[in-house]
Amino acid sequence: MKELLVKAKEREYKVVIEKDFSLLSQKVKEVFGGKLAVVYDENTHALFSNEITQRLKDFQIFEIVFPAGENTKSLQSYAKLLSFLADNKFTRGDGILAVGGGVIGDLCGFVASSYMRGICYMSCPTTLLSCVDSSIGGKTAVNLPEGKNLVGAFYAPSLVYVSLSAFDSLPEREIECGMGEIVKYAFLDGSMTASDIKNGDREDLVLKSLKIKKKVVENDEFDRGERAKLNLGHTVGHAVESLSSYAYSHGLCVAKGIDKIIDISCKYYGYNDDKKGEFSALLNSYKFDLDIEFSTEEILEKITVDKKAETGAVNLVLIKDIANVEVVKLPFERIKELF
Ligand SMILES: NC(=O)c1ccc[n+]([C@@H]2O[C@H](COP(=O)([O-])OP(=O)(O)OC[C@H]3O[C@@H](n4cnc5c(N)ncnc54)[C@H](O)[C@@H]3O)[C@@H](O)[C@H]2O)c1
Ligand SMILES: [Zn+2]
Repeated sequence: MKELLVKAKEREYKVVIEKDFSLLSQKVKEVFGGKLAVVYDENTHALFSNEITQRLKDFQIFEIVFPAGENTKSLQSYAKLLSFLADNKFTRGDGILAVGGGVIGDLCGFVASSYMRGICYMSCPTTLLSCVDSSIGGKTAVNLPEGKNLVGAFYAPSLVYVSLSAFDSLPEREIECGMGEIVKYAFLDGSMTASDIKNGDREDLVLKSLKIKKKVVENDEFDRGERAKLNLGHTVGHAVESLSSYAYSHGLCVAKGIDKIIDISCKYYGYNDDKKGEFSALLNSYKFDLDIEFSTEEILEKITVDKKAETGAVNLVLIKDIANVEVVKLPFERIKELF
């Protein structure tokens, strides 16, 4: 078992990394004693509800299951979960345990932040992406028809419990999705290396990723500066994700985006092929298909209509060196030259 303590303004919380769910009840008891809404999507319910119900037999639990997929991160689900809590007479001393990926986590976190002005929120992230990315940092949200994550709150969990064996049922696409973010962390901080990635030890990759993200979010909890570094690969990645109509996973698109950013960074800083080779070798420490089949024009078009692009310039995270990225504001004309 490994533990990490994350400091947020509201509270400090533990991230527990264990091979299975055997310590769940004990860890929940350390932070909480009320009744518990355990929230799943259909897939995580089928996979984990028997075991989790058994493990949490000392608690009064209420299960609710949402459809799997991004559409569940909606105002309708938000209202449904709030009503579920109210119908079951949940009070300030009760709490929510999210069992699922980032969709269930973001939804539950936002509900917990606002039901009775804030109740206890705990999560068991069951996708690699949600484990290494959304489980810490306190960002919660649902989508509006007008756009993703448009309504939400910063709200720190009280516990994050990672059962590494939960990832055994993930399809390859979801593993690759998480690996995209993990490789991103290797560009942000030297504590994650190409050999760590090649080695592929899940506990090691999860722990190192969370330590890197912890450092960034503790320095900039409310996303006013340093946290922007976490967007490495994301501006191009989001464009590719959207152009592919979400055929590629988010993390794979981030990896494709980093590949493009390696090109752009080497032009911007005037690096030679050796430096580029060094950056590419790190990215290729996982077997991503980095090919982007969309034209530069299509990608630029997407980027410049992005909401962050209203000022005629875009903030891009560039790779000055491994473990040294910087946010650079580039006017559209300059971006066109670099692409
Ligand atoms: N809050 C943040 O800081 C933050 C950061 C990154 C992403 N996000 C959000 O996270 C969401 C994406 O998260 P995600 O990729 O986990 O998607 P997801 O929650 O939709 O999960 C992906 C799929 O995997 C299935 N699944 C979950 N656990 C499984 C398991 N153990 N075995 C088999 N299948 C399993 C789910 O049912 C779903 O079909 C997006 O909405 C994104 O905006 C939030
Ligand atoms: Zn991402």
